[in-house]
Amino acid sequence: MRKNVSFFLMVLFVVAIMGYPSRRSAMDLDATPRMTIVYNDLTAARRFSSRAQNYTTLLLEDEKGILYVGARGAIFSLNSSNIADGSHQRMDWEASPEKRADCLKKGKNNKTECYNHVRLLQRLNATHLYACGTYAFHPLCAYIDTSTFRLPSHFEEGKEKCPYDPAQGYTGLIVDGNLYTATRYEFRNLPDIRRNQHQRLLRTEESPLHWLNDAEFVASVLVRESVLSPVGDDDKIYYFFTERAGEESTSVFDKTPAPRAARVARVCKNDLGGKKILQRKWTSFMKARLACYVPYYEVLKDVYSLDGGDWQSTVFYAAFTLSAQWRSMEVSAICRYNVSEVRAAFEGTYMEYQDSSRKWSQYNGDVPEPRPGSCITNRARRRGYNTSQDLPNNVLDFIKLHPLMYEEVKPADGGALLVKRNVIYTQVAVDRVRALNGQEYDVLFLGTGNGWIHKAVVIGSMVHIIEEIQAFRVPQPVENLVISKQQRSLYVGAQSGVLQLPLSSCRRYVSCFDCILARDPYCGWDGESCRELAETLKRSLLIQDVLHGNMGCWNDSAQATALQKNRTVLRGDDVLLPCEQASNLAQAAWLLNGTEVVNEKGQARFRLGVDGLLVTDTQLEDGGEYRCYAQENGLQALVATYALTVLPEPLMPPPPPTGPHPPWQAAIHEYGDMRFIYISAITVLGGLCLVLSVVLLYVSCLQKRRGKYSLGVPQGSSVELQTVSSSCLGKGGQEEEGEELGTYPDGCLQIIPGEAPTLALPGKEGPPPPPPPPPPLPAEFTNGLAALPNMLRKMNGNSYMLLRQNEEPCTSPLYNSFTEELSKILEKRKHTQLVEKLDESSV
Ligand SMILES: *[C@@H]1O[C@H](CO)[C@@H](O)[C@H](O)[C@H]1NC(C)=O
Ligand SMILES: *[C@@H]1O[C@H](CO)[C@@H](O)[C@H](O)[C@H]1NC(C)=O
Ligand SMILES: *[C@@H]1O[C@H](CO)[C@@H](O)[C@H](O)[C@H]1NC(C)=O
Ligand SMILES: *[C@@H]1O[C@H](CO)[C@@H](O)[C@H](O)[C@H]1NC(C)=O
Ligand SMILES: *[C@@H]1O[C@H](CO)[C@@H](O)[C@H](O)[C@H]1NC(C)=O
Ligand SMILES: *[C@@H]1O[C@H](CO)[C@@H](O)[C@H](O)[C@H]1NC(C)=O
Ligand SMILES: *[C@@H]1O[C@H](CO)[C@@H](O)[C@H](O)[C@H]1NC(C)=O
Repeated sequence: MRKNVSFFLMVLFVVAIMGYPSRRSAMDLDATPRMTIVYNDLTAARRFSSRAQNYTTLLLEDEKGILYVGARGAIFSLNSSNIADGSHQRMDWEASPEKRADCLKKGKNNKTECYNHVRLLQRLNATHLYACGTYAFHPLCAYIDTSTFRLPSHFEEGKEKCPYDPAQGYTGLIVDGNLYTATRYEFRNLPDIRRNQHQRLLRTEESPLHWLNDAEFVASVLVRESVLSPVGDDDKIYYFFTERAGEESTSVFDKTPAPRAARVARVCKNDLGGKKILQRKWTSFMKARLACYVPYYEVLKDVYSLDGGDWQSTVFYAAFTLSAQWRSMEVSAICRYNVSEVRAAFEGTYMEYQDSSRKWSQYNGDVPEPRPGSCITNRARRRGYNTSQDLPNNVLDFIKLHPLMYEEVKPADGGALLVKRNVIYTQVAVDRVRALNGQEYDVLFLGTGNGWIHKAVVIGSMVHIIEEIQAFRVPQPVENLVISKQQRSLYVGAQSGVLQLPLSSCRRYVSCFDCILARDPYCGWDGESCRELAETLKRSLLIQDVLHGNMGCWNDSAQATALQKNRTVLRGDDVLLPCEQASNLAQAAWLLNGTEVVNEKGQARFRLGVDGLLVTDTQLEDGGEYRCYAQENGLQALVATYALTVLPEPLMPPPPPTGPHPPWQAAIHEYGDMRFIYISAITVLGGLCLVLSVVLLYVSCLQKRRGKYSLGVPQGSSVELQTVSSSCLGKGGQEEEGEELGTYPDGCLQIIPGEAPTLALPGKEGPPPPPPPPPPLPAEFTNGLAALPNMLRKMNGNSYMLLRQNEEPCTSPLYNSFTEELSKILEKRKHTQLVEKLDESSV
């Protein structure tokens, strides 16, 4: 029963070797977002920003159609139907010059800390909001009349309600006129859960055991458990935070700080504190560990609660990330918890601190009545305990020493719903959507540390990431997410502004397959376009398949619509047949005259990539009809068709459209001036070359902006990159790669199927600097939770990475886009371009 150091280390060891003993391994859960929507493609977004920064506090009043925003030095009132319509109201609330001077004297950061960061915005009553700001390390609060929206002349002291430090974890709620806040207060920086009520403060106990140990709060949730309660229970406020796990501090001699653990704590709404013992302290504070069952996931980032109309159906979605000692790896996990599981933990056995051994262990002794930590129920009332002040001393003494529960709160799905590498989820918001079949699905909106939003749907106990959206051009953490059912919008608060996004953009899906494969519960195919369910009256005509994502499009005519294009090349030249896959989950399949083109050893001249098929060193027999299909989730859709003609060499000008003679011969007969014809032919050809080069350059830039293939900032420390560079040197590479190296005639281009970078870092344009050689990885991470480059996208093995051997040393490969690379080759072979160009115009 005793958790000692060797047991703990052994558990860690086993976990590290075998993966956590859960049914699915972490790798299986790593989901790839199906679509990537970069900043420039975000057409329906609305943005609000002003001179102010740090738009961190959002308060949505859906029925009034108002979004209140607390920023640095200002509070805004925005029209929630369109935050950018210019009708906003602004209330400046800057820290006074004296307080700023004070703050600077205290040695605080004049760039961020010595301002008034609005941290709390809550509805107090029908006419007023209550707001608190850090006010340059001198917190103040104010009542704001929403009808005038003016800064009041009178302020309240805020140090019991608001942190001094704008970056401090903080959560605050107004429940029935009382303010419940949790943060680390004042200069002593001690964590505390407080209630401000008629000047009577209730707080957590500090001695002899710290109820809260270095806690960082992320969220608080009111659950109205008194509603229709058969036992006369009280409403409860749940707190979510990460703190130092005292129960896991290893031994007296171990000087390393105790590991951190995610926690849920709760207090009863009508707690009044004790009379003599625990005077002005919570008598109902209890806390339990929140387990997500993914190794090392200890830090809570955010929690969102959702219910289906009654409190019993409440679920909490929690975003976790790695604790500090693993910060070099970016990994996030999402777990969900039922409120019944949380209640069960609080009704279980207690933990006890043994002074002698300085350890926490399960308490097996007698528990006094009424049960310590529980709210006042009918049963207690019958025994004469009308309020917490009537509780007997032995109960209060007990709760003072036993705030921690033995049982941990287990996730509802037995493990994490989602594990995602190379991402820090900072915020979660969840919408419950009724799909076409009447089933309800939870749609998660996950904000990342670099300004992206992942939209995902929970299907059973799995998560399908529908899309990733680049919400901000400049990477910055998403600091707040709010959903409006009424406006069907998601509001995103961040440093540079507020963003309003539609919950769905079904029109983005252009075919029935696309619409079905998206598995977006907001969207359905009506036979012509992909539409929002909410905007469609005749729902029965729509097609949707959230559960499997592949049913319903059998009779769709989208199959036959791909336009055939002609390509003509000279024998021996290379040709790229473009075929963009919109979905990151799709694989390309190519058919030549109805037979599949495969990347086999015998077919080394064919290279399959996510953006097309490259045929190198074309031969006459390569001509024919090429069809490109997107294969995804068991469906196959035609994307492009090409008719490729290979001409025997040599042939300077293009073939004549009619007649057996080249056009210039006819011209000679007609005009008899050969020199004139030659000169004008050369001029025209030269002009065409120039135009085509510009077009190609533009296209390759466009490709780069679209974000496919270009690695904006190459990052080291990748397993895949190591593989590439070693095979580039021709040693230790896989057989297939080695062969490719050997068979390529120019020795200047090598294409290796594998992981490919797909996203350019926003804001960093221009050619990437040569990346440093990848540092060696710790062995245990190379096939587990590896520290992959942030922008590396898993493409199911059908993507390319390109190296240029003749110009760059292999240790610093320059990764370029497929198209870009090809355009350079084509530039060297102008006549090929010319033939292709003439062909394009004949399509
Ligand atoms: C918000 O804008 C809509 C449409 O422009 C308008 O109908 C509505 O009255 C506005 N709401 C507020 C609170 O100003
Ligand atoms: C902050 O302090 C630095 C150096 O102490 C000074 O250069 C800078 O102007 C100050 N900025 C503001 C906004 O006061
Ligand atoms: C709301 O609270 C404010 C501040 O306490 C008070 O002045 C105002 O009268 C209250 N309004 C109502 C409708 O109770
Ligand atoms: C406020 O925004 C600035 C950048 O705009 C950032 O450096 C700073 O850390 C932010 N402060 C907080 C408390 O988020
Ligand atoms: C509790 O309330 C009941 C009825 O309201 C009253 O009779 C009883 O004296 C109260 N008990 C205490 C300890 O105040
Ligand atoms: C598809 O077409 C066949 C015959 O053309 C018909 O029997 C079937 O019901 C159609 N299916 C759907 C889903 O429309
Ligand atoms: C494909 O079909 C075309 C015309 O039907 C033919 O000329 C060509 O040789 C065929 N190509 C192959 C590789 O079979």
